[in-house]
Amino acid sequence: MARLHSSLVVLLTLTFFELRLANSSPIAWTDWSPQSPSPETYTSIQNTLSLFSIAYDTKQLSLLDQVFTPTATTNFTGNAVQSGVPAITDFLQSTIIPGGSQHASSTVHVNQTGPATANVISYLSAIFFGSASTQGLAYQNFGYYEDQMVKQNGKWLVQNRVIHNYGGIGNISVVPGAS
Ligand SMILES: *[C@@H]1O[C@H](CO)[C@@H](O)[C@H](O)[C@H]1NC(C)=O
Ligand SMILES: *[C@@H]1O[C@H](CO)[C@@H](O)[C@H](O)[C@H]1NC(C)=O
Ligand SMILES: *[C@@H]1O[C@H](CO)[C@@H](O)[C@H](O)[C@H]1NC(C)=O
Repeated sequence: MARLHSSLVVLLTLTFFELRLANSSPIAWTDWSPQSPSPETYTSIQNTLSLFSIAYDTKQLSLLDQVFTPTATTNFTGNAVQSGVPAITDFLQSTIIPGGSQHASSTVHVNQTGPATANVISYLSAIFFGSASTQGLAYQNFGYYEDQMVKQNGKWLVQNRVIHNYGGIGNISVVPGAS
């Protein structure tokens, strides 16, 4: 009986989770023969991706010029494109909430297409924390980043970033303006 009960709880939890993420669009790659980067290139790319999360979560957006090239473009919301570090910074600044956030970029896959070019996929999981009337609540967002990266002056930087958003779980009222 206890076992049936816990199976039901698992099933219901999974069903709920799937329903909430119903707008998911699984990664569909057709070419599964990417070119592997050297360990140094992989580490350097991962370091740049991590710096994005740290810059955002610690609200030090001046670090973004070590993440993006001066002519970088981004598409965070699916319906708007930002061009150049100042526009990217302004957009991100407008999305920072008082309660703060924690971004994790994981499952980093690098497809190196040349000595100084790479297509990079990394999974995104971002948790946003409530404050004031939403204190104690949280909203967690899932998806992945698709980055075109280039090596400039010895550093791997993002030239183009598109976010593929799967949706999220938790209470969206934590993130004002989102729905
Ligand atoms: C790797 O990059 C090449 C060149 O852009 C592209 O044709 C291929 O689809 C990519 N493969 C993966 C798995 O990303
Ligand atoms: C932004 O990215 C989404 C995929 O997340 C894509 O469907 C959309 O066409 C892109 N929008 C622009 C303006 O590039
Ligand atoms: C989310 O939190 C707000 C503020 O506490 C509350 O009014 C609302 O009912 C909550 N929504 C859900 C779906 O729990």
